[in-house]
Amino acid sequence: MNKKVVLAYSGGLDTSVAVRWLSDKGYDVVAYMADVGQGGDFQKLKKRALSAGSSKVVIEDLKEEFAEDFAFQSLKAGAVYESKYLLATALSRPIIAKGMVETAKKEKAGYVAHGCTGKGNDQVRFEVTVMALAPELEIIAPLREWNMFSREEEIEYANEKGIDIDVTKKSPYSLDQNIWGISIECGVLEDPWNEPPEDAYKMTKDPKKAPNKPTYVDIEFKNGVPVKINNKKYDPVDLVVKLNEIGGKNGIGRTDLVENRLVGIKSREIYEAPGAWILHKAHKDLEALVLDRELLHFKESISLKYAELVYYGLWFTPLKKALDAFINETQKKVTGVVKMKLLKGVVSVAGRRSPYSLYKKEMATYEAGDKFDRSVAEGFIKVWGMPYKK
Ligand code: ARG
Repeated sequence: MNKKVVLAYSGGLDTSVAVRWLSDKGYDVVAYMADVGQGGDFQKLKKRALSAGSSKVVIEDLKEEFAEDFAFQSLKAGAVYESKYLLATALSRPIIAKGMVETAKKEKAGYVAHGCTGKGNDQVRFEVTVMALAPELEIIAPLREWNMFSREEEIEYANEKGIDIDVTKKSPYSLDQNIWGISIECGVLEDPWNEPPEDAYKMTKDPKKAPNKPTYVDIEFKNGVPVKINNKKYDPVDLVVKLNEIGGKNGIGRTDLVENRLVGIKSREIYEAPGAWILHKAHKDLEALVLDRELLHFKESISLKYAELVYYGLWFTPLKKALDAFINETQKKVTGVVKMKLLKGVVSVAGRRSPYSLYKKEMATYEAGDKFDRSVAEGFIKVWGMPYKK
């Protein structure tokens, strides 16, 4: 087999060292960079990949597809992992891995590689996606193979090999960011008793310092997909970016989770997802207005399962596809507007309306105009309670 490998390249220390490590082993390394909204200077990182020894760098903007087909699909599903994580990192892995596979096909490479550590979830997500989409590709995980176990050793290796890395910019945390949110771990966060210091947060303002007056935002959904903010139309990416900005200013969307990793350990991570949390709460509230009781309750169990699938790296699987068909069916009437109130780290729903609303004032009211037939309640209760009476 030819020794050409497509490496998912982030531009950080691990993947820059991986480029050289692979090329020293005789591989022709194509560095693949997917833009999912992580920010950063791609041209500068491209130079770094080339200086580290890649023969080619491929940069792809996946933001739109990520927002539409991954983030918004998970929004429709109502997926939240362990009540606190809207899955920003987990959702980005399958799309990046898919991009890597497509690049490997174009480049006629027989191998793909990633820079994930050997004890995280991301290695699983990357590799399971590759296995599902292109079983013929061989996967290399340099960080599981080489015997550099600390950042210091990697820096030493980089210096020895003359790879340009800027260690000075190193944050004390490990970060992973995209338009759907940021995941932050390591450093002082490794002690679950330590309150996250303010400098750990990147997307949100300290709620204490956020405005004392509430900000209201109207979010309009069409078939479960957010389309307008304050009556103005936005493309999916711009809509999320805009809500990140408004939510961030109000300190919205911070969570702190001791989570169960797929590989069997508990880890502590903090998350920021201002836009995603505003959308998630708005979407759920609109569903409460338009979905009937049985569907609404049943869908909750699907949301849990869906979050697990995403977290476990099972995006490209038959179950996920079947659940999507169910979810899309449930969204046909999830159309309407939700008025959100943002205040000092808290996002709440102030109002909601929909042409498909199942809320009927004449049935619910305790005032004049009541159409609820109380006479049938008695019979209903007799039958409902009969087994217990007997
Ligand atoms: N715990 C999260 C997950 O498994 C995020 C992992 C990456 N976090 C990071 N800070 N690099 O999806």
